[in-house]
Amino acid sequence: MMYNDVFRVMFGRRFQTADDPLFNELKALNVERSRLSQSFDFNYADFIPVLRPFLRRYLNRCTQLNNRRMKIFEDHFVQERMKALEQSGKITCAIDHILMAERKGEINHDNVLYIVENINIAGIEGTLWSIEWGIVELVNHPEVQSKLRDEMAAVLGPNVALTEPDLERLPYLQSVVKETLRRRMAITMLVPHMNLRDAKLAGFDIPAKSKILVNAWFLANDPKRWVRADEFRPERFLEEDKAVEANGNDLRFVPFGIGRRSCPGIILALPIMGITLGRLVQNFKLLPPPGLEKIDTTEKLGQFSSQILKHATIVCKPLEA
Ligand code: HEM
Repeated sequence: MMYNDVFRVMFGRRFQTADDPLFNELKALNVERSRLSQSFDFNYADFIPVLRPFLRRYLNRCTQLNNRRMKIFEDHFVQERMKALEQSGKITCAIDHILMAERKGEINHDNVLYIVENINIAGIEGTLWSIEWGIVELVNHPEVQSKLRDEMAAVLGPNVALTEPDLERLPYLQSVVKETLRRRMAITMLVPHMNLRDAKLAGFDIPAKSKILVNAWFLANDPKRWVRADEFRPERFLEEDKAVEANGNDLRFVPFGIGRRSCPGIILALPIMGITLGRLVQNFKLLPPPGLEKIDTTEKLGQFSSQILKHATIVCKPLEA
């Protein structure tokens, strides 16, 4: 689903089935890209530069993988859009705007490929992991599912499928999305930033070109700053924290970062999460795998991300119409 959402926006294309060989190759390469960049095995050299020569094999693997991914993006997607744009001159999807910028000399072809590669990771994985965490929390909190179902039935009426314009009328659904992003923040340390000039912060000297990681997960889960911080409780966003949005209007909660380098995909991510979780709850009772009472929520932490450690296959029991 996420691949089709993103590839339709970017290239006006979708994969017809989950068996599509191109889709599977792309998915495998993206997962490996993510594994290599998130792995703790390699970041020792960030802190002990003298050990960097030992990373040669890892860096070779990264280069090979990068070349393969770029070739797929170029051969199967970018070239196709370049030809279509030449023939029709019509802009029909996001990449066309980027290709037009290249034509005007505002960016070069490497920049085009970098944007495609970046969206493949930033756009797809963060949303995917967040939706998975949302489903897990809904399975583990049947009372939240019921409350959500009641809200949708009351606001939309019976058997009316949720669509994007409905989201603003569904505050509890929005709170479920926010609480998922708070309690199970997918990009826990934001994306590493770098200060170009020497800086001073809270009395500390930060030399130019330092790697800056922001512990956004802690800000959002600090027991001193949130009531019963370790509980999954969407109600907090309707009660004591009702003014808090996911766009960074409160520095305790910045799941998409803040400022000029914050996530541009927030306008897609929030509706996609809301519609996906909402529709699932409208149509199904979400239950744990047979024989289990709850799904194990142990996290698998990467350098700056958090995913679920053990993926579970849940039971979706259709609701009577
Ligand atoms: C729930 C889903 C998502 C989460 C939690 C998320 C989170 C983030 C975070 C934390 C950053 C780094 C911000 C910073 O370091 O200050 C980021 C960057 C980015 N995100 Fe997202 N994101 C999501 C979905 C998306 C989507 C759907 C797209 C696009 C289709 C997207 C595109 C990007 C891009 C291109 C960047 C890099 C921006 C830059 O470096 O200037 N993201 N995202």
